[in-house]
Amino acid sequence: MCGIVGYVGSKKIGSRLIEGLKRLEYRGYDSSGIAAISEKQLQFTKKVGRVKVLEQSTPKAYENATTGICHTRWATHGAVSEANAHPHMSSDGHFALVHNGVIENYTQIKSFLTTKGYTFASETDSETLVNLIAYHYDKEPEVKDGSRFLESVRKSLLHVEGTFGIAVISELYPDELVCARRGSPLIIGVGKEEHLIASDVNAITHCTQNVVYLNDNEIVHLNKDDFSISTISNVSVDAVIQTVDWDTSEAELGSFKHFMEKEIFEQPNALENGMRGRFSDDGSTAFFGGLNLSPQELQQVDRLVFIACGTAWHACLIAEYLIERYARIPVEVEYASEFRYRNAPLDKNTLIIAISQSGETIDTLSALKEAKRKGYKTLSINNSVGSSIARECDGGIYQHAGPEIGVASTKAFTSQVMLCSMLALYFGRSRNLSYADGCEIVRALKQLPELTKKTLETTEQVQKIAKKYAHYEDCLFLGRQMMFPIALEGALKLKEISYIHAEGYPAAEMKHGPIALISEQCPSVFLTMNGEMFQKTLANIKEIKARKGAVICIAPEKCDLPKDAVDDLIQIPDAHDILLPILMSIPVQLLSYYIALERGCDVDKPRNLAKSVTVE
Ligand code: F6R
Repeated sequence: MCGIVGYVGSKKIGSRLIEGLKRLEYRGYDSSGIAAISEKQLQFTKKVGRVKVLEQSTPKAYENATTGICHTRWATHGAVSEANAHPHMSSDGHFALVHNGVIENYTQIKSFLTTKGYTFASETDSETLVNLIAYHYDKEPEVKDGSRFLESVRKSLLHVEGTFGIAVISELYPDELVCARRGSPLIIGVGKEEHLIASDVNAITHCTQNVVYLNDNEIVHLNKDDFSISTISNVSVDAVIQTVDWDTSEAELGSFKHFMEKEIFEQPNALENGMRGRFSDDGSTAFFGGLNLSPQELQQVDRLVFIACGTAWHACLIAEYLIERYARIPVEVEYASEFRYRNAPLDKNTLIIAISQSGETIDTLSALKEAKRKGYKTLSINNSVGSSIARECDGGIYQHAGPEIGVASTKAFTSQVMLCSMLALYFGRSRNLSYADGCEIVRALKQLPELTKKTLETTEQVQKIAKKYAHYEDCLFLGRQMMFPIALEGALKLKEISYIHAEGYPAAEMKHGPIALISEQCPSVFLTMNGEMFQKTLANIKEIKARKGAVICIAPEKCDLPKDAVDDLIQIPDAHDILLPILMSIPVQLLSYYIALERGCDVDKPRNLAKSVTVE
């Protein structure tokens, strides 16, 4: 989704800003722009399409500038066009602004400013804010000069309803930058004789590893040597400088063609990193340093509510099966966007758990805030250290899966599922799960990285199957019990990167409607487990075959499928049930990836999608 990068320092913005912007490309965008104070004047360039186009069109003169802001836009208000791209200029030409978020009362602000003679070149909500800043600047000449720029931004924000991460520059203050946040992330990069700001830490780490995560309703005034933080209501705030602990090379492609491919193959490591140091010495349970739950609080929990969106929501569905099975605690799974506006009755011993890769998804963050407002204890499972969700929760578990750049989530998903399995073990062992059963699960989990590596050996076979099925326009994914969420995830992966219409269903539900879709034109992918459900799933496979539907089946090696029962069989290693959702996900991800490649799709930047969804 929209990305911001800003710079004020002693170096030239050229490489620093555009490189930062390139590092935000993975988030999804449709246009981009840059503004700089060059030759004492505010200048800007905006382009529809890729950052490469912006880079090629940016005048060379900008390279000497030492103050600038830039932006990638994902359209919300108004069409994809150069006029609507950011930065936006105030109509007096003095200020430029980039904005993430939504100004909800922009029509009122715009009407007011129109009566004062301000004019608008775009359809965006953001342009009203830059004009409001110009208005407040003009209105208050008595404010002493050093802080007049900062105060005009602060005053304007007091009138804004909605969410924002903003960065503002002014030709009247060529060596300064003002930025602020509410509901939309913003991070300061602290360098030597330079400061950067960005909406995502990835856009900063090529210049510095020292960062300050801003909190909601904070405003910052920066120059090359110094910066000061205060709240929008003008209370000064102490900055806490933290060090980013990941290696920037993790965010680079290396020998892989796409980030999605790289991240699929990183799964053995990501899983290993997520479990490291989290098993008890006696090998019978898991523990997590950051949960902040006392043994008494742990005992009192009598209901868990998981909230998330998209792929992370599918991880929650698996948590529901696992926690109910191993810990016997009732679990509910809610779409964060629905939970937030529903007045769901919860009791005081309910624990809310948010799952989010980015830690910035606005629906999940808002649902979490709503739960906190009502007094519930909140935890998160999250892959982004210092993210808004991580900071909002009472406690949490970091995934340590490394940065995920591909828009389609892969390694973050399997890592979330693994941590949910470990959470089920942790809750289970604090209740009725026996020592012996705990040890068996720990032994199984420790084999996971190796079994994941082995499952990746199906790649070549999956690639061939992908070629055979890439031309279909519809596809069903079917599975029972813990395989049902994987069916949902398989359908989501396929549709988001290959634009094939796909649906996931519990296999038995097929007879209640979706079977009407089955024909030679609609293949099905069955996710099959051994055990009590096997014969029933086999019956469902036969129902599809009887209607001429092609069947791809993914199953553990020991699954006793009759010869010729399916058209294509992908075998994964035999493993403890608790591992199967993760192992099954690997061929499902590979299938979507190779089908998308066959169809010539841009796998890492699928159309209309954003990596981190920071607007409602
Ligand atoms: C799909 C995908 C999305 C995200 C969803 C939540 O591949 O990545 O469905 O899972 O937007 O994002 P996070 O986990 O960052 O909250």
